Amino acid sequence: MPKERIPIASDHAGFELKQHLVSALTALGFEADDIGTHSPASTDYPDYAHPLAEQVERGEVKRGVLLCGTGLGMAYAANRHPGVRAAVAWTPEIAALSRKHNDSNVLVLPARFVSEEDGVAILKTWLETGFEGGRHERRVEKIETPIGAPKGANP
Ligand code: RB5
Repeated sequence: MPKERIPIASDHAGFELKQHLVSALTALGFEADDIGTHSPASTDYPDYAHPLAEQVERGEVKRGVLLCGTGLGMAYAANRHPGVRAAVAWTPEIAALSRKHNDSNVLVLPARFVSEEDGVAILKTWLETGFEGGRHERRVEKIETPIGAPKGANP
C-alpha cells in the first residue's frame, strides 16, 4: 500500500514545531510533504495556508496540517476554500471532537501555545480519530450552504 501523503506547512512561528511533526508523521508511516516554510525567517501565513488548502479542496489529498503562532490566521485562510474544514486544536480532546463531530480535514496547531509533546499527541489523536457521521453528517453538509440561500435549496 502506498503511504498516504500528508502536506504540512507553517509560517516562522510554527517552524520549529513543524519540524517535529514532520518527523512524527514519518515515524507514524505517512509521507510528510513539507511545503514550507523552510527556515525561521519571517513569512506570511496565507502564502502557506492557501496552497495546502487547495490540495484538500481539489481532492488531491485527504487531509493536511498547518501551524502558526495562534493557529488562527492559518485557519481563516484555509477555511475560505470550499470543502476545507480547518480546526484549531490545542488539546487532543479538541482534535478528536473536530474529527468526530466536524469531520475536520485540516489540523491547525497554535504553535506558540502547545509544547512539542502536546503537539505530537494532538496530531496522533487527530490522525487516528474517525468521523462519527449520523446527525453530524447533516450539520457538516450545511457548512457548505451558501449564506442567504433559501432553506432546502440543496439537492
Ligand atoms: C506571526 O507573528 C503570527 O501573527 C502568526 O503566526 C499567526 O499567529 C497568525 O495568526
